[in-house]
This record gives sequence, C-alpha cells and structure tokens, in this order.
Amino acid sequence: MQEILRQLEKKRAEARKGGGEKRIESQHSKGKLTARERLNVLLDEGSFEEYDMFVEHRCTDFGMTDQKIAGDGVVTGCGRINGRLVFVFAKDFTVFGGSLSETHAQKICKIQDMAVKVGAPIIGLFDAGGARIQEGVAALGGYGEVFQRNILASGVVPQISVIMGPCAGGDVYSPAMTDFIFMVRDRSYMFVTGPDVVKTVTQETVSAEELGGAKIHTTKSSIADGAFDDDIQILSQVRRFMDFLPSSNRSGVPCLPTRDEVNREEASLDTLVPANPNKPYDIKELILKMVDDNDFFEIQESFAKNIVVGFGRMDGHTVGFVANQPMVLAGVLDSDASRKGARFVRFCDCFDIPIVTLVDVPGFLPGTAQEYGGLIKHGAKLLFAYGEATVPKVTVITRKAYGGAYDVMASKHLRADVNYAWPTAEIAVMGAKGAVEIIFRQDIGDDIKIAERTKEYEDRFLNPFVAAQRGYIDDVIMPHSTRRRVAKALDMLRTKQVERPWKKHDNIPL
Ligand code: HXC
Repeated sequence: MQEILRQLEKKRAEARKGGGEKRIESQHSKGKLTARERLNVLLDEGSFEEYDMFVEHRCTDFGMTDQKIAGDGVVTGCGRINGRLVFVFAKDFTVFGGSLSETHAQKICKIQDMAVKVGAPIIGLFDAGGARIQEGVAALGGYGEVFQRNILASGVVPQISVIMGPCAGGDVYSPAMTDFIFMVRDRSYMFVTGPDVVKTVTQETVSAEELGGAKIHTTKSSIADGAFDDDIQILSQVRRFMDFLPSSNRSGVPCLPTRDEVNREEASLDTLVPANPNKPYDIKELILKMVDDNDFFEIQESFAKNIVVGFGRMDGHTVGFVANQPMVLAGVLDSDASRKGARFVRFCDCFDIPIVTLVDVPGFLPGTAQEYGGLIKHGAKLLFAYGEATVPKVTVITRKAYGGAYDVMASKHLRADVNYAWPTAEIAVMGAKGAVEIIFRQDIGDDIKIAERTKEYEDRFLNPFVAAQRGYIDDVIMPHSTRRRVAKALDMLRTKQVERPWKKHDNIPL
C-alpha cells in the first residue's frame, strides 16, 4: 500500500512540473508565473481542488505518441475567492505552448459544465498559442465545444478571462464571449492572426504589441475591460473584482457589510456642478462619494471616457453605475459610449445587479463620422438595453438631460423605477442657444431680442420642475443627500418583480 501511495505522489509531482524545469525557467524569465503559481495567487490559500491532472492527449501524428505530458497544457479545478466558490482553468504555456488539444478542451468543458450546474463563476487564465497544430480538426472541434458552453453559460454564471501571455487564433473567441476580459500590460496580446500572417496577407508590418497588446484593446478596440501591470497585480484585482459579482443569475448580489453609514451626507456635492453650464466637473467624484468606502471598480476606464461604468456598493449590496462624464466631450453620447454603456447594462440585468444612472448629457454627437459609423444603431443599443432591463433602476439627473439622450439614459419612460433630479437639472429638447436659434429664427441679428428669448427659454425649460410636474421626476433632491436617497430607493426596490410578454429572446440591434 505504501508503495502505491508513493507512486501516486510521484505521479502528482511529475504532473506539477508541467513542461519541465527549463520551460518553467523560460516562463519566469519573461516575467510570467506558471499556471499553478497563478492559481495560487488567484485563489484562497489551500482552496484549490485540481481535476484531470493525469489527462494526456491522444494524438499519434507527428511523433506525438512519445510526447505526452500529464495535464496536457491546462490546469483545471475549483477553489475559493474570499470564501466564495469559483471554477478555474489556467493554460500552461510550458506544455506545448498551452495549445488546445481535444483532451485539453475536454478538461475546460468539464469545468464549464460543473460551474453551470452548481452556479459559480468561471475564470480562465490565458497564455497559449491557439489550436494544437499536430491535432488538426480534433483541436478545432475542441474549441467548438468550449465556445458552445461559453454561450450556454452566458447570463447564467459570470465568465471572466484574464490574458497573461499570447492569446491567438482559436483562443481569442472564447474570451470574446465571456463577460469581462482583463490583460497584463506589455506581455499579453490577443489577435485572430499574428503579425506574420498580417504581413503576408496585407503587407502591413506591425508588432504583436501594436496589433493586439493591452493598450490597443483597452483604448482602441474595447475588447479588453482593464489592464494591469503584472501577474500579481492582475490576479489581485480579479480577486477584488469577484467580490462585486454574484455567483450566478440565481444567487442574488453579494452583500459586504460596511461601516460606511448609509445616511452619510456629502456637503461638497452641493457645489459640484459649476454655475456656468458649459464648465465640466468630474462625475467620478459623485460616484466615489456615493459608494460604500469610496470603493469603485471601473470597467473600460480608458475607452469612451465620456461615459463611466463600473461597480460599487451601496449599503453593502453591489450596484452597477452608468454615468455621463462631463469632463470628456461634455459627456455626449457617441457610438463607442453607447456600446460601452449597453453592454454594461445588459451584464447587470443578466445578474440582477441594480443600475444607478447619473445623467449629465448634452445629446448624441452630431456629424458624418458618427452617422457613417452607425450611431443610430449603436445609440439604439443603449436605449434597448435600458428598456429591456428589469433590475431596479434608479436615475439621478445632475445637470443636462437633453433630447433623445434624456429618454435613453434610464428615463421614467424606459421604466426606470425612481428618477431624481438635482435642482441644477436642465431637462429639455436642447440647450437654450440652439432652441432659440430655431424657434425664434426671425429674431437672429437682434441681440437684445435673442437675449430675452434665451432667458425666457432658460427660465421655462432649463430646470427639473417641468418634468417633475408631469411625474417624470419623482423628486428634486439635495445633492448632499444623494447617497441616502439612492440607497433608500434601492432598498425599497429589492423585491421588485416585473412581468413581460412571452418571447424566446429579444432582438437587440447588433
Ligand atoms: C502546438 C505549439 C503551438 C501550437 C506553440 N507551440 N504553439 N505547439 N501547437 N499551436 C509550442 C512550440 O512548438 C514550443 O514547443 C512551445 O509551444 C513554445 O513556443 P515558442 O514558439 O517557443 O514560444 P514563443 O517564442 O514565446 O512564441 C509563442 C507563440 C508561437 C507566439 C504563441 O509559439 C506561435 O506563434 N505559435 C503558433 C500560433 C498559431 O499559429 N496557432 C494556431 C492558430 S490557428 P517546445 O517544445 O519548443 O517548447 C487556430 C485555429 C483555431 O488556433 C480556430 C478555432 C475557431
């Protein structure tokens, strides 16, 4: 018996070595941890339960019969993050470059199936060279099985992808279908085809970093939701991030007890909005002063900065924030901001996370660049996402809510539950100057008359009371009381239920 136990330990020790000392050294020399080291950082100490450690590939072509490494390039299992269950897989670059074989895919599929069965998030750590070239269609089939499970798990359990090295070919599509992608700066990259293929097909010379590094994907393509400096930092931030997320669509949002008084008032908010309506202010200041302990996890911080989205907590419960940012393009809605906002709203709605919307928006961005780029459809995405969302929706208009953007930004008409406005709110079809130039065109040139008309328009419409008279605004609130008023509304809405007509699923404009 002792000998059998010893054999088992020996086999385990062999498997833990992955591709061997030399390849582990090479991994370290690139500033990267190994798959198992990464899981040690990600998961609570001692919580990792590994499965399928002894799985080997079945490929017999290209001399592969003699090249078998236990685990086959991916470490899979489950563990805990701050006590909560998660399922994980980590590509092991030291084994065939982390490439995906038929059996490697089966290991990932097993984890995906278990996560959906028990209702726990799936976190994938990527560092791999795509399909196992020696396996041909068996590898492609493996990818297909993983993809199909990504789709089935979507909206059931949160799926997170962390890109920590190369992520090419077939490896990119699974992350693309997950809820959030985070990347390590300067040493991770994602692309469908690498620089060599690009050169051959389009004659473009481009480096891996320029083609698909963290900077590109967080600022230009918006594929990634955040970037961090190294393995330790990204994994620590993923741990922090997971604390905001529900385990599944049935679990309800987590509650993290706080000493931050829910009735806390912030006198400084009474002067946040400048007297001059064209002067910007930082909407993040409001968010940080509203959330528990100033703890806000921003998503896509470096992309479409004219809208801010992310997670915070109020009275301990997770809340999704969507806010126009007057500091960037005056907070206007353009195609990128609309897409960013829509995707975030849909994630919150899938997982029962209430949405707080902070509005200061001068409208949609005019111009050929926007119209040719499909602003109508992209804007409609945000409109549609808000209208279909049945989670509690609380809206605060701080300043401008003009035109179509007033409707889109979680207005009462899109079934927001509680709509507040600050006394500084201006809810109108457009700003005074534009309005007067259209409806009093005959007076243009007569400065005195135009000034009178502008004043008349401002007095009549650029306030929250016309909307409040109609019940579109439930109350005009003091800025300093925003945290208390919003938290109370969210508390009242915790048992919200909405009936909708039967449908298979809706058809959001894509
Ligand atoms: C089998 C692979 C592999 C792969 C890497 N390796 N990629 N083995 N299949 N796809 C092996 C290498 O042979 C090497 O083995 C080890 O992994 C490390 O690779 P290196 O090239 O030495 O590492 P590095 O210089 O860091 O380059 C990493 C890399 C490069 C950029 C990922 O390996 C690369 O370009 N790989 C091929 C990428 C690719 O074209 N994949 C197929 C995509 S097509 P040894 O034994 O020397 O350690 C695809 C289609 C699927 O995925 C579509 C589904 C929808």
